[in-house]
Amino acid sequence: MSKRVLVTGFAGSIGVHVLCHIMTNTDWVFVGTDSLRHKGLSDRVAMVLEAHPDWRPRLEVIVHDLTAPFSAMTIKKMGKIDYIINLASLSDVQASIDDPVPFVRNNVEIALNTLELARVLKPQVFVQITTDEVFGPSSEDYRCAEWDPIVPSNPYSASKAAQECFAIAYWRTYGVPLMIVTFMNQLGECQQGGKFPVIVQRKVMAGETVQIHGTPGNIGSRYYLHSRNGADALLWLLRNVTPNLHQEGQIDRPFRVNVVGDAKLDNLELAQMIAGMLGKPLHYEFVGASDTRPGHDASYSLCGNKLRELGWTAPVPFEESLRNVIEWQIQHPEWLDV
Ligand SMILES: NC(=O)c1ccc[n+]([C@@H]2O[C@H](COP(=O)([O-])OP(=O)(O)OC[C@H]3O[C@@H](n4cnc5c(N)ncnc54)[C@H](O)[C@@H]3O)[C@@H](O)[C@H]2O)c1
Repeated sequence: MSKRVLVTGFAGSIGVHVLCHIMTNTDWVFVGTDSLRHKGLSDRVAMVLEAHPDWRPRLEVIVHDLTAPFSAMTIKKMGKIDYIINLASLSDVQASIDDPVPFVRNNVEIALNTLELARVLKPQVFVQITTDEVFGPSSEDYRCAEWDPIVPSNPYSASKAAQECFAIAYWRTYGVPLMIVTFMNQLGECQQGGKFPVIVQRKVMAGETVQIHGTPGNIGSRYYLHSRNGADALLWLLRNVTPNLHQEGQIDRPFRVNVVGDAKLDNLELAQMIAGMLGKPLHYEFVGASDTRPGHDASYSLCGNKLRELGWTAPVPFEESLRNVIEWQIQHPEWLDV
């Protein structure tokens, strides 16, 4: 019998790549849930299904706002679920700074309601997706390891840390078979138009000036990972790793792993790469250093050794991924403005 995977936030930037990757590489049934009113777009799902009508029988969609629990009737309809991947979150740092309380409540309630669902459905694995931002800013020469201290800088990263904390508590108290998977900055087709790589492409194509936060020699940097590579890591983990369960005095924390891309770039280097691939000049200006934007960290950095040693490597190199995204966005200019 085919496995059944439930993915929250599946109509988001990353979720749609998880959908495509699981559909392409498994015979699983994909139960996708999203509110479709917190940045999830039905257009993403519609586009995928138009291109792959044969996937329809394996996709079950539940439109649901995870600030409320699922009803008993909906849970019954979900049936057996082998894996839950909890991707849903609000994730815009500036929005979290502008209006923190509803933002944080949303993300905490998502965690609680999805964990409560796991208590009923008892999946083999519950994946909580988190972000490198929970560790706070990293210095130039340091890469955060899986269990480094969590020191979030803004309400978004604090809300992700809170999601992790509840997931660990449910692992310990209720035996939820948890894996915490830490992603870093992602890029991909159909991503939100407010993401830096999309802004750069839009501005370079229009001959406009790109703003680079920082000052010469002090520019924020990130590792970038294509969302399809991130989805590949998730599928690899589901197939190859059995989560630890809590054992008093022996196992005191769940399985946790960083998923790291192969390229660390500062924002100017990334903008230059994108302009180069577009064959157009980059006009740019520096704007206020990070210390003028409270809560915004200049740099993040994760150590990817653990997953590499377990045996996973990203299938598509960063430069090829970036080129594919840029070419796809040229073919689909409507996605530069979402
Ligand atoms: N994009 C990145 O670079 C990045 C990096 C690290 C971690 N993450 C994490 O990955 C996950 C997915 O991020 P993304 O970039 O795809 O974001 P996104 O905003 O594109 O997608 C998030 C999805 O969650 C859904 N959602 C939010 N609140 C909801 C609610 N109350 N009920 C139901 N659905 C709700 C949204 O509708 C959306 O579809 C998030 O947990 C984010 O914290 C993202």
